[in-house]
Amino acid sequence: MAKNIKIIGIGSYLPEKVLTNADMEKMVDTTDEWITERTGIKERRIARKDQASSDLGLEAAKKALKNASLDPKELDLILVATITPDMFFPSTACTIQDKLGASNAAALDISAACSGFLYGLVLCDSLIRQGQYKNILLIASETLSKITDWEDRSSCVLLGDGAAALVITASDSEKEGILASSLGAIGSAGKLLYLPGGGSRNPATEETVKNRMHYLKMQGNELFKIAVKSLVDSAKDVMKKAKVKPEDIDLFIPHQANLRIINATATRIGIPSEKVFVNVNKYGNTSAATIPVALDEALQAGRIKKGDLILLDAFGGGLTWGAILLRW
Ligand code: UT7
Repeated sequence: MAKNIKIIGIGSYLPEKVLTNADMEKMVDTTDEWITERTGIKERRIARKDQASSDLGLEAAKKALKNASLDPKELDLILVATITPDMFFPSTACTIQDKLGASNAAALDISAACSGFLYGLVLCDSLIRQGQYKNILLIASETLSKITDWEDRSSCVLLGDGAAALVITASDSEKEGILASSLGAIGSAGKLLYLPGGGSRNPATEETVKNRMHYLKMQGNELFKIAVKSLVDSAKDVMKKAKVKPEDIDLFIPHQANLRIINATATRIGIPSEKVFVNVNKYGNTSAATIPVALDEALQAGRIKKGDLILLDAFGGGLTWGAILLRW
């Protein structure tokens, strides 16, 4: 049985279309100043009309497989973290399995919103270490623009589209992989961030469309407080489990929802700003995709070297939260 997991390939894809804060000023009653001060976001990427989450995820997956030099036929499992699947079913993972020609892979979507990538990484870790699977493609892909209420200034300025993928394999090395993880949920607060329409509770009718129930609803202010607490608590939990101190961490990659949440979290954990990876200014909140996109960019920027200790930390709809300590 494998001792650990190893990330052997990574790739990301952001749609070409950039929507700036100046563009947002023309769409809703907002200002660049308000968005920048309250969120740190300057622009976000928006998928084309003909692009669904599987299309973004497929581009990221192709890059990750190329980076790993792995044939899609060698994949045993494809996991896709998304809250914006192409449709209820087939799963986005099945659609990508077909487009990649990964005919030997099982395929499954994970619905854990912004924490979906970390939930997926924990699943990969246990499935691989149990010996159940060898090569897993973990994708996080979101087209939040498709469920955004473009008339609601309190949420539309925050969200964006993007995807990233990791090829993960079994490893016998004890020097790399996941040192500790912590996942959790606060289902009782689910309605602070949710999409009420279109499911079996409120199937699509003229009424649900008229009432704008097919758009994401967010109570930002309430979420803010729970976000910081959950991110801090889960980070401290994994550091305690792995007997690691804040100063041992080489790079902190938090979920990118709001620069104020990121800064408040890092300060409370005790991680200096030069060790915090931030790209929320460029992409806004892309839900499950924020952490793997940031991981890819951090690698490309040379901010991660072999043996580094990386802290991943997420919070989002569900509500869900999670943290992972990763030795690169
Ligand atoms: O992915 C994880 C889940 N999401 C989050 O974690 C998001 C967490 N929450 C946040 O990031 C912040 O709460 C927001 C950025 C959403 C809002 O920031 P805030 O500092 O909490 O503002 P607020 O909601 O308390 O609103 C302050 C004011 C309100 O006006 P009044 O009532 O004080 O007159 C809002 O109507 O700002 C107003 N406002 C806006 N003004 C200009 C809300 N949205 C906008 C806007 N432009 N886009």
